[in-house]
Amino acid sequence: GAPVEADIASIRPGALVTVEWRGRPVWILHRTEQQIASLGGHDAELVDPGSRVRQQPAYTANPTRSLKPEFLVLTAICTHLGCIPSYRPEPGAADLGDDWPGGFYCPCHGSKFDLAGRVFRNVPAPTNMEVPPHSFRGAGTLLIG
Ligand code: FES
Repeated sequence: GAPVEADIASIRPGALVTVEWRGRPVWILHRTEQQIASLGGHDAELVDPGSRVRQQPAYTANPTRSLKPEFLVLTAICTHLGCIPSYRPEPGAADLGDDWPGGFYCPCHGSKFDLAGRVFRNVPAPTNMEVPPHSFRGAGTLLIG
């Protein structure tokens, strides 16, 4: 299928938008400085901190799993059985635990992912969420696909 173009200039820091690519939802999260910083603090809690099980293009094989640290692009599908997780950016949210760094929570069976889509501690999700192929066209446009 053709790539999908998304206007990212209007996504404010901390906000998440969903676009569709090949019939699947894809998130674009404009991470704040604080959210980017949060990624470095909990490697011991992650199932695969370095994303060794490759769920992403080679060009996002870095600590933020992104081309630009402020923009996370993720296929919005839980790697357990395919539910759509919720965006839960609040660190220490009462229902997710004192050490919750902010991320995504799957309501189906309780998988958690950090703000780079990496499995946070509790299974059942076996692998980090998938980063779809993408590129930037200028400062304000993202191409997915
Ligand atoms: Fe997400 Fe099972 S589908 S935890």
